[in-house]
Amino acid sequence: MERLQKVIANSGYTSRRKAEELIKEGKVKVNGEIVYELGTKVDFSDTIQVDGYTLKKENKVYYLLNKPRGIITSTSDDKGRKTVVDLINTNIRIYPVGRLDYDTTGAIILTNDGQLANLLMHPKSNVDKLYIAKIKGLIGKEQIIKLEKGVYIDGVKTAKSKVRIKKYDKKTDTSIVEIIIHEGKNHQVKKMFESIGYSVLKLKRESIAFLNLSGLKSGEYRLLNPKEVKKLYALSKNPNIN
Ligand code: URA
Repeated sequence: MERLQKVIANSGYTSRRKAEELIKEGKVKVNGEIVYELGTKVDFSDTIQVDGYTLKKENKVYYLLNKPRGIITSTSDDKGRKTVVDLINTNIRIYPVGRLDYDTTGAIILTNDGQLANLLMHPKSNVDKLYIAKIKGLIGKEQIIKLEKGVYIDGVKTAKSKVRIKKYDKKTDTSIVEIIIHEGKNHQVKKMFESIGYSVLKLKRESIAFLNLSGLKSGEYRLLNPKEVKKLYALSKNPNIN
């Protein structure tokens, strides 16, 4: 059972605040009866009408995509570029959870489940994201410690992270570095390295929590199974998140 305003918001019809207003104004019916009380509990079997419009009981779907380079993380693009949504063969309106840059590759979840999307994107969620970055130069121990403790990007300190040098190529003077973060600020990994004077040449998200890319070539995707979805909910339901 879920609160009525939350179900309306999660359906994508409107925001939770607007849904509350509509309920108070008597514009919401549950199984044909007007409901004025905020927080009325409903479930999947209930028919909900908002302003005469019946909310669709759409099944929730969850995809894990291995995003290729040169694809934008959005539902549409005014310049007509291909989006991550275009890569998934479905009629259901899905959207990406968080974002990967145009030139970043790797794991991204797409879903029509607004509740899970919000939980996963919450900065306090316990969902680790593992990135492999190819950077110019060799990073020393001191810099690694700086990154791990948190660095300032756009005036805000990043949360603790885990960083490990995997490889250094003397010929090209490049390093392969693994970095695990749970935040998702814009261009976070690139900006973290920039803040200590290094540039990221290539970036790939290898995993989101326990979801890795095994079996998925670039551009391929798969549906998550119910067990995986349950696990994601459990992981992202940090006590500090409402
Ligand atoms: N950090 C970045 O800098 N870019 C991404 O695409 C993801 C994380």
